[in-house]
Amino acid sequence: MEKHVHQSGNPASRRAFLRKGLAVGGAGAIGAGLLANGLPAFAAEKKSDLTRGDIAILRFLAAAEIIEVDLWKQYNELGGIQDSEVPGGSGNAPYTQAFIPLDGDMSQYIHDNTDDEISHAAFLNEYLIAKGADPVNLDRFRNLPSSRATGAQQIGRLTNLMQLTVDTSWWTRYRSDSKNPDFGETFPQAVPGLMAGQFTAIPRSDDDLAPNNRIQAIANTAGFHFAFIEQGGSSLYPSLAQRVTHPEVLRILLSIGPTETSHFQTWHDKAGNAPAITDPTNGLMFPDLAGSKDPSLKANLIMPEPTVFLSRKFPVCSIIRPTETEGAAMGAVKGLTDDGLFIGQSREFFAVLHQLAEQADEARRE
Ligand SMILES: [Fe+2]
Ligand SMILES: [Fe+2]
Repeated sequence: MEKHVHQSGNPASRRAFLRKGLAVGGAGAIGAGLLANGLPAFAAEKKSDLTRGDIAILRFLAAAEIIEVDLWKQYNELGGIQDSEVPGGSGNAPYTQAFIPLDGDMSQYIHDNTDDEISHAAFLNEYLIAKGADPVNLDRFRNLPSSRATGAQQIGRLTNLMQLTVDTSWWTRYRSDSKNPDFGETFPQAVPGLMAGQFTAIPRSDDDLAPNNRIQAIANTAGFHFAFIEQGGSSLYPSLAQRVTHPEVLRILLSIGPTETSHFQTWHDKAGNAPAITDPTNGLMFPDLAGSKDPSLKANLIMPEPTVFLSRKFPVCSIIRPTETEGAAMGAVKGLTDDGLFIGQSREFFAVLHQLAEQADEARRE
């Protein structure tokens, strides 16, 4: 941490880093300790036509995509279309059914989002190998439990979907016409309840399949989580693209990034259809966003509202937000950690992930 603060010369970028990169908690300190003990870094010794910075950014993105694959596969096994393109699960009928109010094609979209993430992770690792750099492998951290519900494979997972604290501020952030997270501004929650505890986004066992409003609340939680994950990818790629060097690496980031946005836009639209219900087992309440008259909440306002960008002296602009590059990788790790996605993960997992993020954030365009 100290190292980064000293590296950031101007006060504005230091502020940006402090905002996004700090508060990683105890795991950050653990990461620094293990790093000093000589964890394998990226392939600095190998010959590659890419800069160290480009390799570091691609390796961090490969890790992020592997994490995405792990969580999307869990969703697909229970709620997606079951086929050989995305194998592993056998489907859970009541959970799949509970997505229908969000959209009759949810199972197709869950399947296709999963397929896309598999392709992102595989491409980035193969590209790294082709360029003489080390790919990323997180297999040794696949130790978290699977759902026990009908449809889920019983294998070790990288990510936890059963104790999530879902941040829904992206909803109001994309509806704001005067604020931008890159200016340090914060945004209210669309579903405050999801930030006020830990909730499962998949049935933990078949006991979670009833009563109706229980499984509906779980599907609603997933619906908002889908958009949370994909808005993160929508920001991460343009944020990191600003610091890559090689035009082909830039092309990769500019070609994958907008597919994350395509996912986000779809999930943003579907989340607005989540029925306004209360989970009878824990009181989690989903508000009536479709019926809201408030422009910061109204469900159909899914197009990114023009807002301030770069400076308030410019006219407002419809943009992806945030796209600040300083500390972007650690910001993404913090977002996923705060989401609860890594609850139960080992100290070594956090050390490796933080090291990948720190190296990506040290990359500079040459
Ligand atoms: Fe992806
Ligand atoms: Fe994604």
